[in-house]
Amino acid sequence: MAESPFTFRIAPPEGGGPWRVLQITDTHLLAEPGGERRGARPLARLERAIAHARRNHWPPHLILATGDLAHDGRRESYDLLLRTLAFRPTVAVAGNHDLPWPLRERLAAHGQPLARHLLLGDAWQVILLESRMTGRIEGALDAPQLEWLRVLLTRHRQPALLVIHHPPFAVGSAWLDAIALSGHRDLLECIAPFPQVEAIVAGHVHQPWDEERGGLRLLASPATWLQFRPNQREFQLDDRPPGYRWLELGQDRRLATGIEYAE
Ligand SMILES: [Fe+2]
Repeated sequence: MAESPFTFRIAPPEGGGPWRVLQITDTHLLAEPGGERRGARPLARLERAIAHARRNHWPPHLILATGDLAHDGRRESYDLLLRTLAFRPTVAVAGNHDLPWPLRERLAAHGQPLARHLLLGDAWQVILLESRMTGRIEGALDAPQLEWLRVLLTRHRQPALLVIHHPPFAVGSAWLDAIALSGHRDLLECIAPFPQVEAIVAGHVHQPWDEERGGLRLLASPATWLQFRPNQREFQLDDRPPGYRWLELGQDRRLATGIEYAE
């Protein structure tokens, strides 16, 4: 069966090692490099996280940028992001703060794959889901996107990582769970017949999450921008440093992952 033009292939690393993947999320960059919000400079915090990654998890074969990349949706903010990521291969999903077209246009301008589906050798696949809804903070997936996901998972049986901004799971903070993925049950029902879905990697929650539910790993990462304090009824910031998630996708199909804070 013909491959979709939105499919992109990444060759297996030499020597049999895993694909090194970084999840960078909720950078909330401003077009002005020195710009500040809530007493923090988003670019300086991203730079701290990337400096840490460069010492510990570099070079990544792939970066998953999981939304709220620009706070203002400006082209200049996406340029700052890609430059700070040292133009490593990067795919992105839009968050509620992003504007999808400036984001895609700048990815394309910097030669990044506009892929929605990545094949890592024959061992893994990564599928990007777009949950942003215009003018809304919470996310949703429409029926055509769920159908596209069903078709992909029917065709490709290797272990899959789903990447999305809004998590289809609760993290125990009432205010945040109210603006997660609405209709999350539709997504979980859609993937239930496909045991090859190993993990869902989400942004949006500005805190770490790692839970296994019925063989499915639910993951989220700290933001590089400000963190949200876990288990709160109302919005509350945490004072933790910028963070990110690393993943190692083994050629033997094993998944290892953890989070880092740039202390
Ligand atoms: Fe965010």
